[in-house]
Amino acid sequence: MADKLSDSKPSKNAHTVTLTDNFTGKTCELPVLKGSEGPMVIDVRRLYAETGHFTYDPGFTSTGSCESAITYIDGDEGILMHRGYSIEDLAAKSSFMEVCYLLLQGELPTKKQRSAFESTITYHTMLHEQMLNLYRGFRRDSHPMAIMVGVVGALSAFYHDSTDISDPRQRMIASHRLIAKMPTIAAMAYKYSIGQPFVYPRNDLNYAENFLYMIFAVPCEEFIVRPAVARAMDRIFILHADHEQNASTSTVRIAGSSGANPFACIAAGIASLWGPAHGGANEAVLQMLHEIGSKDKIPEFLKRAKDRNDPFRLMGFGHRVYKNYDPRAAVLRESCHEVLEDLGVRDDPLLDLAMELERIALEDPYFVEKKLFPNVDFYSGIILKAMGFPTSMFTVLFALARTVGWVAQWQEMIEDPNHRISRPRQLYTGPSKRPFVPMAKRG
Ligand code: CMC
Repeated sequence: MADKLSDSKPSKNAHTVTLTDNFTGKTCELPVLKGSEGPMVIDVRRLYAETGHFTYDPGFTSTGSCESAITYIDGDEGILMHRGYSIEDLAAKSSFMEVCYLLLQGELPTKKQRSAFESTITYHTMLHEQMLNLYRGFRRDSHPMAIMVGVVGALSAFYHDSTDISDPRQRMIASHRLIAKMPTIAAMAYKYSIGQPFVYPRNDLNYAENFLYMIFAVPCEEFIVRPAVARAMDRIFILHADHEQNASTSTVRIAGSSGANPFACIAAGIASLWGPAHGGANEAVLQMLHEIGSKDKIPEFLKRAKDRNDPFRLMGFGHRVYKNYDPRAAVLRESCHEVLEDLGVRDDPLLDLAMELERIALEDPYFVEKKLFPNVDFYSGIILKAMGFPTSMFTVLFALARTVGWVAQWQEMIEDPNHRISRPRQLYTGPSKRPFVPMAKRG
């Protein structure tokens, strides 16, 4: 059976497409929806009821799962906007706290709103003291992402006054708590893994400074946060704040669609982010650069990346949506040089290797033809390494920054009158009904 999708011209009242089942000759008219930006979408919600067919789209390459007003990406043009503001403008002119407010509330804050928001976040940064016991249950060499999944999930056992998801106020408190506590949780995961004492948050520092302080300070000496490093940290947070319906955000939405506890939903998002095809790529980039080792080895590794029979991929390259330079990578490329300069790193062999790899890959017909460009993870690892973060913390930083995107998308989903529990269907290819075989007859 072959189906034909014919796009009828938009009429004054409605634009529809007609789906014809070439086997039965039956047709089905489906509405086409137009958002404020981006391609039109065919509304297939009535498809099953009218035709008895499901759609099949593993990996959701052609499927819009929700309506959203938060983030827009034009992958062909390399455009990323939050609530209409370009990522380049936000990275250059805004702060992470402002971007958090923008994602959550839909508008940039006024001066008064920003200071109230900053104060709310600052005064939610401490963890319930009993939560410290949780860390001690982990092996001391645990990956910090493993600790993050566990501890963030455990927030659901501590903050019962912000889990009534039908109450908008409680939803916002849960969101504020998550944004505020994430740096503390992440820093403690790191401190635990290196055997240093936990460092408590300080309310006189801003969000990025406080995080750097909790990560790098030790009780035995004074720690001064370098302003340039704090600014770079803040910018890295901005660049990772949201990215529409990626795997981890969709995971948060799917988990939340059943009405689950918000803290548990974010833990699900962290688990999804961890994989090397998603947020885990920044860690994988550094491992790959170390493995390549020197510029003369680049052709060998590029050859492997192009070989279909070799599982090796060029980490930090390619993206499901961007078929152009990832705009976040462009900003990070600039930042990378600034940070290394500020830290007095004149010749970083890893950065040199990364630049050369980028240059060669961008000229290689395979990468050109498949439109594989550097993504955000390609440069973030190099900056984070220069700032003193171990590779195991790279994805943790991504999770920390993405938390605001997750909670904004989670809130939007709950407020959407069309939201229902997410329940995809399948193309079943297993055995049809057959009689049970008793053990004695199984051979
Ligand atoms: N190196 C070599 N070949 C690649 C790469 C790569 N990094 N990425 C894609 N390809 C090839 C792939 O083999 C396929 O070739 P063919 O058409 O011959 O089968 C073609 O390009 C299309 O790739 P795909 O896997 O079908 O594309 P996808 O949209 O399913 O995957 C991706 C996107 C990001 C998972 C993939 O590009 C990848 O694995 N990249 C490396 C990991 C990485 O950097 N991930 C971070 C993504 S950005 C941050 C985030 O979202 O978390």
